[in-house]
Amino acid sequence: MAPLARAAPLVTDPPDGSVRAAFGHLRPLYIPVYLDGLVTDSVVDFHLYLQTSPGHFILFRGPDLEFTGAHRTRLLANRVETLWLKGEERRRYDQYVERHLDTLLGNPQIATSRKVELLQSATHTTLDSVMVDPRHTQAVPRTRRIAQQTVQLIVRDSEALGHMAALMARDYDTVRHSMNVSVFATGLAHAAGVRNANDLRDLALGALLHDIGKSELPRDLIIKPGAYTDDEMALMRTHVTRGEQILQQDTRIGPLGMMVVSQHHERLTGDGYPRGLDASQMHLFGRIAGIADVYDAMTSDRSYQRAMKPVDALQLMSTHLASHFDQGLLREFVRTLRAPRSNVAAA
Ligand SMILES: [Fe+2]
Ligand SMILES: [Fe+2]
Repeated sequence: MAPLARAAPLVTDPPDGSVRAAFGHLRPLYIPVYLDGLVTDSVVDFHLYLQTSPGHFILFRGPDLEFTGAHRTRLLANRVETLWLKGEERRRYDQYVERHLDTLLGNPQIATSRKVELLQSATHTTLDSVMVDPRHTQAVPRTRRIAQQTVQLIVRDSEALGHMAALMARDYDTVRHSMNVSVFATGLAHAAGVRNANDLRDLALGALLHDIGKSELPRDLIIKPGAYTDDEMALMRTHVTRGEQILQQDTRIGPLGMMVVSQHHERLTGDGYPRGLDASQMHLFGRIAGIADVYDAMTSDRSYQRAMKPVDALQLMSTHLASHFDQGLLREFVRTLRAPRSNVAAA
C-alpha cells in the first residue's frame, strides 16, 4: 500500500473508500481488513468499520476490544468478510499483524496469497523502523522473526514464492528491495540444496539487513535519479562497512548473516567492493546475495529507470556479466524462477 499523501487537497470521493488527492494520487481513506487477518480472541487496538454501501461506512467497534469467534460467526452469517480501517490507523493495524504473524501464517484456513500480503505488511513495518533506528536493541530480534517467517513460508508453501514475486516490483525503495532480496536469496539457497533451517534463517536475516548501512547516508543520495559522480559513488559504497559496523555489536545476526551484509557487492572477478575478494574468498551466501541483489535491482521499477524483464536481466547476468556471478547458482536461479512450485516443493 502506498504511503498516505499528506495535506493534499481532496478532489473527489471514489466509491471504493479511497480519496483522490492532488496530482491524481489515490490515497486510501478506508483500508480493507479481511476477517481472516483478524485473530480470534485477540485485542484489536484500532477502530473497525462496516461498509454499508459503496463509499459509506459506519463504526463497527471501537479500539481495545476483543475480537471473538462469536463476532466472526455473526459477521460471516451476514456475508461480511471484510471490515474497514481508517487510513490514519494503518500503522496500528500493521503492528497488530506483526504481533500476530505466527498465528496468522500458521492458520491453514488462510490462503497463501493473503499470508504473503500479511508477511509483506509485517516486513515493511519492521524494516521501516529498523532503517530509522538501526541500533535499537530490538532491531535484530524483530528482523530475525521476520526472516524466520519468510523462510517458513517459502519452504513450507510451494505457492508462496510465486505470490511473493507478483507483489515485488511495486513501490520500490530500500525497504522493498531488502524484502525482495531476502525472498530471492532464500528461494535460491533452498533450490541450491541448503536445507539447514538455521542457515536459511540467517541468510534471510542478513538479506533483510544487507543495505542497512544506507540508513546513515543522505536520503537525497539514495533516491538520486541518474548516475552518481565519483564522489557520490565512493560515499554510496561505504554502506557495506557502515552496515557491518551497525550490526557487529549485535551477535544475534551471526557470521552467516554477516556474510551476506559484507559480501553482497563482492564479485567473483575480484573487482567488487569493499574488499575486492576473489572467487576463492567468497562464501556461498555472498554469491547468492550478489545474484539476488543485482537481479532485484534490474527487474524493479525505479523513479529513473524502467524495470528490465526477468528474462533480459537473467540473460545479461549470464552473458556480459557472466564472470561476476557463480554460473551454477545462476542456472539454479533461472530454474527456480521458471518453476517455483516444483523446485521449492522438493523440500
Ligand atoms: Fe548494497
Ligand atoms: Fe542491495
